[in-house]
Amino acid sequence: MSEQWLFTIAFFAWLVGAAAFVLGLHLMNSPASARKGNQLSASGMAVAIFTTLAYYALRGEGLSIEAWVIIIVGLVIGGGLGLVMAKRVKMTAMPQLVSLFNAVGGGAAALIAIFDYMHVAGTEKETLSTAVFVVLGVVIGCITFTGSIVASGKLQGLISGAPIKVPGGQMTTVALGLITAVGTIILILSAYGAPLEGIGTGVKLGILLAITIAGCVFGITMVLPIGGADMPVVISLLNSFTGTAAAMSGFVLNNPVLIIAGALVGASGGILTKLMADAMNRSIMNIMVGGFGGGDAAAGAGAAAGGGGSVREVGVDDAAIQMAYAQKVIVVPGYGLAVAQAQHAVRELAEILEARGVEVSYAIHPVAGRMPGHMNVLLAEANVPYPQLKEMEEINPEFSRADVALVVGANDVTNPAARSNPASPIYGMPILDVDQAKSVVVIKRSMGRGYAGIDNELYTDPKTGMLFADAKAGLESLAAAVKAL
Ligand code: TAP
Repeated sequence: MSEQWLFTIAFFAWLVGAAAFVLGLHLMNSPASARKGNQLSASGMAVAIFTTLAYYALRGEGLSIEAWVIIIVGLVIGGGLGLVMAKRVKMTAMPQLVSLFNAVGGGAAALIAIFDYMHVAGTEKETLSTAVFVVLGVVIGCITFTGSIVASGKLQGLISGAPIKVPGGQMTTVALGLITAVGTIILILSAYGAPLEGIGTGVKLGILLAITIAGCVFGITMVLPIGGADMPVVISLLNSFTGTAAAMSGFVLNNPVLIIAGALVGASGGILTKLMADAMNRSIMNIMVGGFGGGDAAAGAGAAAGGGGSVREVGVDDAAIQMAYAQKVIVVPGYGLAVAQAQHAVRELAEILEARGVEVSYAIHPVAGRMPGHMNVLLAEANVPYPQLKEMEEINPEFSRADVALVVGANDVTNPAARSNPASPIYGMPILDVDQAKSVVVIKRSMGRGYAGIDNELYTDPKTGMLFADAKAGLESLAAAVKAL
């Protein structure tokens, strides 16, 4: 087969892989089809990998035996580790795993770019476009690599979740930024031709080394000062960087599927970052330079979170009676439900209520929990029927018709101060209108604060009853009490 035909066939196979990524992403729009979307995207990746390997195997020059050994050993080790880690990880530890995967993606993109530059520098292949994509790939890849490792370490508790000051502060970051920018400009200009075309290959590689080191250190100094609780947003941003770095590698390698996959990850990561920031009523810049949410330490401090008013405690039996004789109950899950792994317990309680004729639905706030889609994933895992999961805009008008709003380990996303108190740090953040329900039952362990570290007026509302318990234990005893009625 001619070289031309081989490339055409490979190109179409890559397009099929890329189309699978796009369709897979589309299917992730709804929890009902998200699993299929994931499978389709994974199949697209399998097609892309197989096509690439087959393409190089069938081309006249082929790959050396050593190259095949490296590829197969890499696939087995990388694929095996990924499979084991993804199977073993707890849902609450998913953000740090995603961050580690980002680090690997960014590091791989940087290595490809460095390898390529070492081969083209000083030859006629060193064109302006190669230089631009290679250098940007190195910079973005290096920042993503170290930044993602620090983000993962913070979430895992290996590095303190509190904001850590970098020696030299802003000056260090500016200096690193300058080294990177100046180095990048020199390498690009030297590829462009006059006036820097006379620079020797050794000097160019030295500059690339300086850029690589500066990018890696910049990733660390960028993420260290950000509080642990803001890490999900940072991870989403770094995820977008990984995609961009991969797209740069695609340009370098002239591989369309890498360009498309990278662009998809870059764009969707960027959109997700913006959505998360909007749902917290903060700008991305505000998160990057620090603000509220200086770490879960703030949440854990757990001072009285009810403000000045008095708090009414409710017993399991009273709460059970309220719910058993209600017509409509809205469950509001939050971070505490995830920590307690209470998703099965809440579904069991809902089923017992439904068997008594109570209408049950779940109110899903976009940033409830600690990662995008946290509540959807947990409740789907417990086989809660998808139609019962209602997005914030859909469920908010329904609260006024609910007899009971059952809040399980959710705090900030129910805080009416976001609507009424301009002095509150979460003022303007869209919230679930739980306080509009006829009565409210809140299951949490104490008066501890949530992620934003602020008081919640909902707890001192006369119609709110506080059921102090671990989410799982509280829901199980509620279910038993409703059953016994
Ligand atoms: P939070 O406001 O963080 O409140 C969680 C509550 O759960 C705490 O007040 C805690 O109170 C309770 N809790 C903890 N462990 C529990 C357990 N075992 N059983 C029962 N309750 C338990 O959670 P939320 O309402 O879900 O809001 C999420 C927050 O995270 C928002 O401020 C959001 O902006 C932020 N955030 C979210 C994301 C994403 S993408 N989801 C990303 C970054 C930041 P006790 O200690 O008294 O039990």
